[in-house]
Amino acid sequence: MTQNAPHHSTNRRDAIASDASLDALARRITKPIVLVGMMGVGKSSIGKRIASALNLPFVDADHAIEEASQLSIPEIFERFGEPYFRAGERRVIDRLVNQNKGVIAIGGGAFNDETSRALILERAISIWIDCPIEILVERTTKNNNRPLLKNGDPKAILMRLSAERAPYYQMANIHITSTGGPHEKTTNSVLKALDKWL
Ligand code: S3P
Repeated sequence: MTQNAPHHSTNRRDAIASDASLDALARRITKPIVLVGMMGVGKSSIGKRIASALNLPFVDADHAIEEASQLSIPEIFERFGEPYFRAGERRVIDRLVNQNKGVIAIGGGAFNDETSRALILERAISIWIDCPIEILVERTTKNNNRPLLKNGDPKAILMRLSAERAPYYQMANIHITSTGGPHEKTTNSVLKALDKWL
């Protein structure tokens, strides 16, 4: 994982008690951390903050897919369709979870895929971040980069996907409910939950 090389953020202390306790927590982490959950929940923003607090690299699986294919996610869906995208997503997740420790944010549908899910459950610490649908709607409708929301009412689609995916998200090791407040708050909750779970 080379994206966002580890660095000490000046805000690192905000996240949990002290730099020393963050370092101690980071030492207990022996597997990659994978963030799962619906589109718009803030996996990438929160993932970057967790990585910074723990001094670990961060990688966004969707960006890795875009880099590998030299196409944007909407272009991949448009030109080749969802099954093709999921196949690329499986390959990228396989590669990422087999690399060293780090924080990985994956696309909202990846944990539904049996192969990707099995890989993550076996090789990584999975964290499901959940938040109310209204917040997902607000965040995902700000831009036009979610192909699955293009064919219908975004709220209805998000509600359907969320209901379909909940049984899979439930299989993640750790569950965090975000109220939709600042990402720092959710980051804090994740770090505390990790500390407790390990
Ligand atoms: C998807 C979520 C997206 C992206 C693709 C499909 C999904 O990622 O992988 O548009 O199936 O929910 P984010 O969850 O990062 O938006």
